[in-house]
Amino acid sequence: MGLSIIILAAGQGTRMRSELPKVLHSLAGKALLEHVYIAAAQLPVTETYVVYGFGGERVPKQLAHMPVQWVEQVQQLGTGHAVQQAIVAVPDADDVLILYGDVPLISFQTLDRLVNAAHESGFSLLTTNIDDPGGYGRIIRDESGDILRIVEEKDASEEQRSVCEINTGMMTVKADLLKRWLADLKNDNTQGEYYLTDIIEKAVNEGFVIDSINPESAIETMGVNDRAQLAEMERYYQSVQARHLMCQGVTLMDPSRFDLRGDLEVGADIVIDINVVIEGSVSIGNNVCIGPNCVIKDADIGDGVTVLANCVIENSVIGNHCRIGPFSRIRPETRLSEGVHIGNFVEIKKSSVAGGSKINHLSYIGDSELGKNVNIGAGTITCNYDGAYKHKTIIGDNVFVGSDTQLVAPVTVNEGVTIAAGTTVTKDIEANTLAISRTAQKTIKGWERPKKK
Ligand code: UD1
Ligand code: CA
Repeated sequence: MGLSIIILAAGQGTRMRSELPKVLHSLAGKALLEHVYIAAAQLPVTETYVVYGFGGERVPKQLAHMPVQWVEQVQQLGTGHAVQQAIVAVPDADDVLILYGDVPLISFQTLDRLVNAAHESGFSLLTTNIDDPGGYGRIIRDESGDILRIVEEKDASEEQRSVCEINTGMMTVKADLLKRWLADLKNDNTQGEYYLTDIIEKAVNEGFVIDSINPESAIETMGVNDRAQLAEMERYYQSVQARHLMCQGVTLMDPSRFDLRGDLEVGADIVIDINVVIEGSVSIGNNVCIGPNCVIKDADIGDGVTVLANCVIENSVIGNHCRIGPFSRIRPETRLSEGVHIGNFVEIKKSSVAGGSKINHLSYIGDSELGKNVNIGAGTITCNYDGAYKHKTIIGDNVFVGSDTQLVAPVTVNEGVTIAAGTTVTKDIEANTLAISRTAQKTIKGWERPKKK
């Protein structure tokens, strides 16, 4: 007997007012559906089926890295119809856990309890009590408290609408039973849909007592229906992550102005100033300060690093004790060794910079290899692109590049070279020499500046 999971994700999500299928909208950098998948994948699951529909292949394409079976529901005829599409592939002896792709905060712990509850009764339902049950299916119980059925808001009487216990939509049912009950669903209701919730009454009629459990926190079962709810959930999720980081010893100058959209591994004594966004997979070593308004994506930041205000760092490795910023842009495939300084308005792309080198002002260094203790003067540009191909610039140890130098790649500057300010380097330079290319300065005496008449 195994566990099959069916995640319903075919709906459009009309109230999102979006061309993007609702389940692809992102919460903390991951699609809503992926959050559900990650929680579910912690269970001892045999197979996960995702029912997709609105937006066609967009959903399976974007989430192709998830090891699930994709099942298309061409027309969205209701939650019962959606489950019908996937159930055919499920072995009769399995338990089936049904989840919604737009309820992203569901926890593994709650799902585990829901699945275990079905072991005895054959049928367990996740319900919760909320103050404002508008829009949800209501749980109708008999005098002894047993569940009788679920009534959708649109089909409910005045009295039924006053019930505050609602259907979260999540349930565990034995596959053979589910198949039988799904087979004779009807769509004779206000919405003309095949309601999954109608199987509850069928189960009760056959004498089943449905077990219900509640989540730890109601937010776990909150669906995303519009962008306001999405934003609310994002803030909630960010606050949980921020608290977790602070528990690990990170100082967040303002936890409500910190966003983590991915995974962050942290050392000790990290201080993160306001409006910092961390994306993808980032690790930060010990004793690191990140200034305000920085975006750091898929990067490894070593120990003792200082990133000053307004820097963007992407897909790079920053060695110990580097100092970056303010206003620096470190682009993909950059490796900075120990103690490198990158200053304001400097862009580095796909380059390695060895220990102790400095690029402090207004420079572009692309497709380059810089040695140790190199000093790059203000306004230095590597001309790496000829309009068709990218070329490399190689600079040896202890080179001094004067301000406003252009290095026309491919070119090699050997160790110990000095390049005079304003030089355009077009040929390789021999070690320990001075390179200078300048037109001689003229002085014109008695020159009068034009004046306005
Ligand atoms: C459903 C429940 C309701 C419950 C509520 C919880 C039914 C009939 N009603 O109502 O009792 O309180 O969820 O949020 O089940 N979907 C498909 N294919 C379809 C229709 C829906 O994949 O044909 C998916 C949607 O993408 C969504 C989920 O199923 O993820 C729920 O669908 P939705 O239309 O939001 O159901 P509700 O009317 O909210
Ligand atoms: Ca809904």
